[in-house]
Amino acid sequence: MEKKIAVILGDGIGPEVTNQSIKVLNAIGKRFGHVFHYSYGIMGADAIDKTGNPLPDETIETCLQSDAILFGAIGHPKYDNDPTAKVRPEQGLLKLRKELQLFANIRPINTYHALQHLSPLKSKQLKGIDFVIFRELTGGIYFGKKELSEDQTRASDDCVYTKAEIERVSHLAFQYAQKRKKKLTLVDKANVLETSRLWRRVVQEIAAQYSDVVVDYMFVDNAAMQIILNPAQFDVVLTENMFGDIISDEASVLSGSLGLLPSASVGNKTALFEPIHGSYPQAAGKDIANPLGSVLSAAMMLDYFQLAEEAKAIRDAVAWTLSHGFVSKDIDPINNYATTAIGDLITDHIERNKGDRRSNNASLNQSTII
Ligand code: IPM
Ligand code: MN
Repeated sequence: MEKKIAVILGDGIGPEVTNQSIKVLNAIGKRFGHVFHYSYGIMGADAIDKTGNPLPDETIETCLQSDAILFGAIGHPKYDNDPTAKVRPEQGLLKLRKELQLFANIRPINTYHALQHLSPLKSKQLKGIDFVIFRELTGGIYFGKKELSEDQTRASDDCVYTKAEIERVSHLAFQYAQKRKKKLTLVDKANVLETSRLWRRVVQEIAAQYSDVVVDYMFVDNAAMQIILNPAQFDVVLTENMFGDIISDEASVLSGSLGLLPSASVGNKTALFEPIHGSYPQAAGKDIANPLGSVLSAAMMLDYFQLAEEAKAIRDAVAWTLSHGFVSKDIDPINNYATTAIGDLITDHIERNKGDRRSNNASLNQSTII
């Protein structure tokens, strides 16, 4: 198989972690006989520094002409504490999501036995955690009208959803649930918000087409609590843009490190794959960042290409590094390995296992994204 991959290294640790994924993808190409062609685009603070624009048109063009996008991270501290900044790195990512209509953001949450001691939860609660958050990504308060009064004493952000926007992401989430444990939880604030009541009505309507999926509804404040108290109850969690942003960061700590978690954003055009962590500027250039969030995002990309065996080879290699203590500083502050060393170990593991085709049945919940 030949695939064109647009690479956006981005800010902070983005380049370092993404470069490990490229090594890993090349090892997969070598072992399984695929060719990946990379074209590079810029976005975020990197693009502002180079062009004044957080998302140059050429980057959008490169993405549109590719089969998938591998993205590193976005953000720089010089913008974070400056509320007056007119141009911000994050605008690049938000614009890219909108331009490519990446309306569904998929964040799988699971745990690794070797990392249980890092989780803030007791091991009893960690049993059976395996859920996926489907976050609507191109609507809601993120993209509503924003206003600041002339005298700068009043501000507003509109939260708007249309039935069509809710339907398209909900169908994906239901179809995903059908391939998993057949449970879908809609997280909203329907006791207060009109948009949430629309979500509930539309999801109830759609549920009739997926009679094999059990649906439940949960207010977001309760969901925030349930993710800590009893995370094993969840299978597919469907929610709107901002609630999804918040609860996915919350859920990410269950695994023990934010640095481990991958994500996929899919829609009508090219899909994008990125770790859920930020640009972690304090670690940039030091070769200490955890590359696994990016490497596992590359595995999600392979799933998306319907290369389940290849994706599994990456996940097996990652699990092998974790269980042998080949981990980065966020996981073990004393005995740790460099970003590049972990990338090399995963690459070697994939190449070394060449020809071992015994384990070619990827488990159902990891086999396809959509
Ligand atoms: C994320 C990030 C972004 C978001 C930021 C960088 C705009 O936090 O992908 O979750 O809020 O969506
Ligand atoms: Mn976020």
